[in-house]
Amino acid sequence: MAKNPSIDKINGNFKGKDILSIDQFTTSDLTHILSVTHKFKSYAIKHKPLDLLKGSVTTLLFYEPSSRTFGSFCSAVQRLGGGVVPMQMPQLVGSVAKGETLEDTIQAFQSFSEAIVIRHPQVGSAKIAADIASVPILNAGDGKGEHPTQALLDIYTIKDQLGRLDNLTVVIGGDMYNGRTVHSLIRALALYKNNTVYLLSPKQLRLPNEEIDMLSKRGINLIPIEDEKDIPKNADIWYWTRVQKERFENEKDYEKLKNKFIVTKNLLNTYGNKNMILMHPLPRVGEITTDIDGDFRAMYLRAQMKNGLYIRMALLALILGKIS
Ligand code: NCD
Repeated sequence: MAKNPSIDKINGNFKGKDILSIDQFTTSDLTHILSVTHKFKSYAIKHKPLDLLKGSVTTLLFYEPSSRTFGSFCSAVQRLGGGVVPMQMPQLVGSVAKGETLEDTIQAFQSFSEAIVIRHPQVGSAKIAADIASVPILNAGDGKGEHPTQALLDIYTIKDQLGRLDNLTVVIGGDMYNGRTVHSLIRALALYKNNTVYLLSPKQLRLPNEEIDMLSKRGINLIPIEDEKDIPKNADIWYWTRVQKERFENEKDYEKLKNKFIVTKNLLNTYGNKNMILMHPLPRVGEITTDIDGDFRAMYLRAQMKNGLYIRMALLALILGKIS
C-alpha cells in the first residue's frame, strides 16, 4: 500500500520513515542519530559482531556511479547481519534497459526487500519512489537535488572533530549549483545557531538566489564569493567539492569552469589556519592536490569517509525499527 504522499518529518521516530531530505530533521533528530552513530562506531571498533538486520534484505538501486555511498551502505547492511540486493546501473543490467519505468522497478524491488536505497539522476526521484513504495526509501542522491546521508556523515564528522555544530564559519568551494551534497549540508547547518557559510564558486555555479533567500530565512548567514582573496582566515571548515561534469549540457562549459578553485598547500597556508578541518565528499578530480592528504586537517580520506559507514549503520537500524 502506498504511503502518505507528503514528506514525513522524523519527529523523534525513525521507524518506517523515508529519508529524502534534511528538511525532515530537527536538531533533536540529528542529536539522536549522531549519538546512535557514536555507539555503532565504538562497537565496530571493538569488532563486536551485530545481527540487528538478520533476516532482512536491503536493495541498493543505483542509477548513477558510486563508490563510497554504495560501498558503505552495502558494508553497513552486512555488518549488521542483513542481506543486500545490489543493483548498480539498472539501465545497463536491469529491466530499465528494456524500457521499464522507475515506478515499476520500485514495485519489483520492494517485493524482495525491507528497504530501498536509491540514487537516480532526476531531482525528486527518491520522492517518486517513496510515494509508491510500501518500504522505506533512502535517498542516496537525486540528481542535483539532495544527498541527505552524506550531510549526516558530514555533520557527524564536524561534531566529532570540532565539538560543536553552531557558531561555525564554513567555506564551501566548488559547484554550489549542481552539488547535492552542498544542498543537504547547508540545510543541516541552517538548523543550528550562528553559522556563516562563504560560498566560493564562479558565478555560473552559484547557489540559485531563491535557494539563498529561502535558506537565509532559516537564520543561516550565506555569503557568495568569487575570489579566493575573500576567504576568511578564521574559517573552522573548508568543504571542497567537485564541479559536477555530468550535469553540464556541453563539455566546453565544464572545461571552462572546472578546477577554478584548487586547494593547494599555498592556498591553505595563505588563507587557512591551524584549527580548521578540510573536508570533501569525494570523488575529487584535481580540486585538492594530493600533497595535502597527509595534513592533520585533511578529513576526506580518513575520518569523513569512514564515518559514512557508521552513519548508515545507525540509520538503517533506526529506520528498520531494530533500535529506537
Ligand atoms: C557525491 C555525490 O554523489 O553527490 N559523492 C558522494 O556520494 N560522496 C559527490 C560527487 O559526486 O561529487
